[in-house]
Amino acid sequence: MAVERTLGIIKPDSLEKGIIGEILKRVEDASLKVVGMKMLHLNTARAEGFYAVHKDKPFYGSLVTFMTSGPCVVMALEGEEAIKTWRDTAGVTNPEEAADGTIRCDFGTNIERNAVHGSDATDTAKFEIAYFFESNELVNYEWV
Ligand code: CMP
Repeated sequence: MAVERTLGIIKPDSLEKGIIGEILKRVEDASLKVVGMKMLHLNTARAEGFYAVHKDKPFYGSLVTFMTSGPCVVMALEGEEAIKTWRDTAGVTNPEEAADGTIRCDFGTNIERNAVHGSDATDTAKFEIAYFFESNELVNYEWV
């Protein structure tokens, strides 16, 4: 297995629910190390750019409105197979279909307000981490 980095976002619905800490606990319980973290309130241009891959989807406008409705927490996460590990921890996109014990099952509201985001592939993770973090904003440390 390879050590990877992925991007996670704790979305505005989670901040409204006061569950930043709950989600960070699940991150670390999944052996994912936070190597970059910042709280942002995205403006429309930044949210549109992040989700540009979805720009032709019917939900794009609503998604951008939601993601700019309040602050979020963006995280660079590192660990063995971090992309898959974080996606498994989050659960599938639609909370109604997410497996028991996943973040989206436990905290998601609907397919849009689904608590967290996770990169879906190596290339996407690279793009998404760079979208929010300069290289000098990412750190290295060891768990002992
Ligand atoms: P995320 O993992 O951040 O990636 C794209 C987001 O678009 C997704 O989570 C949902 O918040 C949203 N999304 C995906 N599919 C739909 C849909 N069918 N209707 C509304 N929102 C969606």
